[in-house]
Amino acid sequence: MLKVGPRLLHSIRFRVLMSKYWIIKSSILEAIMCGIIGYSGPRKTSTVLLEGLRRLEYRGYDSAGIAVGGKSCTDGKLQVVKEVGKISALRAAMPADIDGSWGIGHTRWATHGGVTHANAHPHIDNSGKIAVVHNGIIENHTALKTMLQKKGCVFRTETDSEVIPHLIAQYYKGDLAEAVKAAIQNLEGTYGIACIHLDEPGRIVGARNGSPLIVGVGVGEMFLASDITAMVAYTDKVVYLNDGELVDIDEHSYSIIGKDEQKVERTTNQITWELGSIEKGDYPCHMEKEIFEQPESIARALSGRIDAENATAKLGGLNLDRSRLLNVGRVKIIAAGTSWHAGLVGSYLLEQVARIPAQAELASEIRYRNPVVERDSLWFAVSQSGETADSLFAMREVQRKGATVLGICNVVGSTIARESDGGIYVHSGPEIAVASTKAFTSQLAAFYLFTLLSARMRNMSREEGIHFAGALQSVPGMVAETLKARDHVQRIAKKYCRAKDFLFLGRGILYPIALEGALKLKEISYIHAEGCSAGEMKHGPIALISPEVPSVFLVSDDYLREKTISNIREIKARGGPVIVVGVEGDTETAALADEFIPVPKTDPRFYPFSMVVPLQLFAYFCALELGRDVDQPRNLAKSVTVE
Ligand code: AGP
Ligand code: GLU
Repeated sequence: MLKVGPRLLHSIRFRVLMSKYWIIKSSILEAIMCGIIGYSGPRKTSTVLLEGLRRLEYRGYDSAGIAVGGKSCTDGKLQVVKEVGKISALRAAMPADIDGSWGIGHTRWATHGGVTHANAHPHIDNSGKIAVVHNGIIENHTALKTMLQKKGCVFRTETDSEVIPHLIAQYYKGDLAEAVKAAIQNLEGTYGIACIHLDEPGRIVGARNGSPLIVGVGVGEMFLASDITAMVAYTDKVVYLNDGELVDIDEHSYSIIGKDEQKVERTTNQITWELGSIEKGDYPCHMEKEIFEQPESIARALSGRIDAENATAKLGGLNLDRSRLLNVGRVKIIAAGTSWHAGLVGSYLLEQVARIPAQAELASEIRYRNPVVERDSLWFAVSQSGETADSLFAMREVQRKGATVLGICNVVGSTIARESDGGIYVHSGPEIAVASTKAFTSQLAAFYLFTLLSARMRNMSREEGIHFAGALQSVPGMVAETLKARDHVQRIAKKYCRAKDFLFLGRGILYPIALEGALKLKEISYIHAEGCSAGEMKHGPIALISPEVPSVFLVSDDYLREKTISNIREIKARGGPVIVVGVEGDTETAALADEFIPVPKTDPRFYPFSMVVPLQLFAYFCALELGRDVDQPRNLAKSVTVE
């Protein structure tokens, strides 16, 4: 599990305060598509639920809904309001006279059943008195539905989730917690649920198996939510639930029942978040804010971790003694999407600089490959959210085979952080935009630190270490400098954003950056883009080249520069427009390119940090120009927790 040292804690804005080291123990499986919120207390419930859902919206935004109990439930049923689309649509649909005093809410990322009004959560039983919100997948829903239909239950949705309220109704004898406890015995799959019953005012029962649920403890009010963002405006005290636990809440108290049916005592964690860190501030959207935060977020990732005196890195949370570190014969990195790209950069760097054989593996692939765990291998699981199902399941599989896995995570207390054997928190602060930017550069920082540490234990001299550490320390400044290209990149994006296809090309350590540039563009602008090794281009992708297909090249000033320039010439010879992200002062490449975006000169091993920035900006401005929803692109969710 990852530790956060107290010194570092005080240097970051987004932090969990604990007395000494901060450690969270758990053995769980998480699924966090969608967001859940529950509230019991004196405030206007619909307002608290809507506000919570607004903050959870980045987790899923197909539809949203709330169910409340209270004065406005005049027909003997809970009042349910749902709407397809975003929270703003739900807000607009909210009756003015809604007057609930407790309730639950949900923002959906559909897995079973279309994006329709009927399939939106909460789901209710046939009496209309029980409402449930669910996050996850009930794998045996077909069998349960057949069984429940035989008992007379009428189903109104296509979701897997609807079996839950019907099941609870079957067991209900006046005590919601007892009914939920019995109902969940029948469920196979993953769930985080929150339930209410009209006849039990103020009571909310939650249960989890694979999806996060956190209790927010207020004064005379209680919250239940998928993550802290939903309740940070109201309370700074939270209790994390573990898999197999059930929580019974009213406005004054909560009680947790463990797997063994015994009451669980758990201390509250005090959260110190600046609300501003999850707000857009003066920026039009989270993505732009997060891109521009990078000098600061990278500095946080490095803070207190460079030992200038000894020209090495200090990573307190690895939980590995020096001899174990020295004996690492191979590094394997598990991750998905952007985190995988960071892992790829890490693998190139570790091999090049620390001379440790290293491979980055797609989590979704390695899990089913019956992975070989060599005795001297060290594994990393890289994940911004720390909840990605592919990465988590792959991590567990190699752990079962005996692997030591270090987590590189952003979200403190996330499952990968808790279940890994040690690791490095990247401290980017909350990343809200679905497209990952600042977490990526902080993940890079973690790999550069680990490489420095490993290399200094092996082949790297003190002088080389001083140089490497110095270059690393100058990264935040270099990124700040690169960000000045904002307007220039915007102009280029305006010019090219109508193209239907793009190629992104780079070599060596910049090849993963080409992949990342293509992913960013695809994700938020919906323009097709292919990331490709510049050397591989002639083996196929070059067939795509035409005056309508721009290529974005990453050109370093290292031993691969000439080769990359030859690749640019090959494209120019075929009439393809070329945009280059290159090194300032490289007039030859600038003259060859149709567009040139310079980054400050540095040690070539450090260009991944700066060269990714114009690509993030390029994707952002293309999406903006095309009128896309930058923070919440279609079909995606911030954390992908289904396979
Ligand atoms: C990044 O822009 C994407 N949204 C996606 O590829 C993401 O990086 C991937 O799903 C992994 O997420 P994680 O880092 O939270 O594990
Ligand atoms: N499987 C459920 C559904 O499709 C829940 C999905 C979610 O977690 O948002 O409705």
